[in-house]
Amino acid sequence: MTIIAVFNQKGGVGKTTVSANLAAAMARNGVQPLVIDLDPQAHLTSLVGMSPASVDTIFNFYRGTGPLTELITSLPNGVHFIPSHLELGKVDAQITRHRDNVWRLKLGLTAEMLSGGEMPIIIDCTPNLGVLAFSALFAADMVLVPVAAEYLAVNGANLLQRTLAGLEKFGPRIPRRYLINRYVPDQVTSEKIAGQLARTFPGEILRTRIREQEVIAAAAGSGEDIFEFAPESKAATDFAFLLDELLESGLLEMQSD
Ligand SMILES: Nc1ncnc2c1ncn2[C@@H]1O[C@H](COP(=O)(O)OP(=O)(O)OP(=O)(O)O)[C@@H](O)[C@H]1O
Ligand SMILES: [Mg+2]
Repeated sequence: MTIIAVFNQKGGVGKTTVSANLAAAMARNGVQPLVIDLDPQAHLTSLVGMSPASVDTIFNFYRGTGPLTELITSLPNGVHFIPSHLELGKVDAQITRHRDNVWRLKLGLTAEMLSGGEMPIIIDCTPNLGVLAFSALFAADMVLVPVAAEYLAVNGANLLQRTLAGLEKFGPRIPRRYLINRYVPDQVTSEKIAGQLARTFPGEILRTRIREQEVIAAAAGSGEDIFEFAPESKAATDFAFLLDELLESGLLEMQSD
């Protein structure tokens, strides 16, 4: 099964939104994914109505006090979830003292047979380029990069490309796909950004675009995923297409019941 790191070092581009709704699309298709909130901001943890200061969080795993499997809870929409903790930022701060932490997630997922198992795994990354982001990238089979269709998006994507290239000395190139988010059809800026990205990263831009839609933010505010909150919306269609495209491309494998 596939481990997807949803990553962009640019903040606010839709990493959490995409993690939550792609996972929901999988659950709706009969496959219950595992989502790990690996961001000390713990936005996803709060969105699903959990406390970012609770006891069983991914912080335990990095502190060495709990295996991943013991941290998994089930959300009402069928998604398995490991919450974040506000103190998770300490892991990023300890890069020199605990260098091995960058490999910890990969090793843990393998040792606990979560990678290669039945569950696709989605990691909602922090925009901070530190131990946590690197540990997600080292564990991932593919990187899904949401890019907001706004001014300077291509500069951000180039910066990110350099970051990912820097990781290639530690292992094979991880496949990556850019997902245009906050897309406004026929708007000059949106079309320009989409064209620039297609030229800069040929073959790596997903056909699916997540359109700018208020209902996405409204769903997040309600604590529901887009399929629960507005199943007939264009936003629900966009996320269903995203899942279909990842499956069709062969980058994501999943078997529904
Ligand atoms: N397609 C969209 N249409 C409308 N609002 C959106 C869309 N995508 C994301 N948003 C809103 O934009 C804000 C930022 O999105 P999100 O939190 O997913 O970004 P992020 O990349 O995870 O941010 P961070 O880097 O801080 O973790 C949220 O309020 C979200 O609801
Ligand atoms: Mg986020």
